[in-house]
Amino acid sequence: MAVATFLEKYDFAGKTILPLCTNEGSGMGSSERDVKKYAKGADVKNGLAITGSQAANAKAAVEKWFSSNRLI
Ligand SMILES: Cc1cc2nc3c(=O)[nH]c(=O)nc-3n(C[C@H](O)[C@H](O)[C@H](O)COP(=O)(O)O)c2cc1C
Repeated sequence: MAVATFLEKYDFAGKTILPLCTNEGSGMGSSERDVKKYAKGADVKNGLAITGSQAANAKAAVEKWFSSNRLI
């Protein structure tokens, strides 16, 4: 579990995490819950799940997600 180990080993206090995944139907699954569990102290925002086969058409969705998190 490489990502879980990474999140456990480092100090995320004061950091913001935006979970992003590709999938083919399972959406975010338990990813947001898991990131919150392992990245102690982080401010974990709502994630964005993109259908892998549609990733090339996801620019508008990513921009909306960034915008709603005040990144653009
Ligand atoms: C072994 C394996 C199993 C997967 N199982 C699922 C699944 O059950 N549900 C799902 O939404 N995505 C699943 N995925 C992920 C999607 O297939 C994948 O993220 C999506 O097609 C985009 O591919 P890419 O980001 O690797 O290019 C699985 C991927 C792998 C490698």
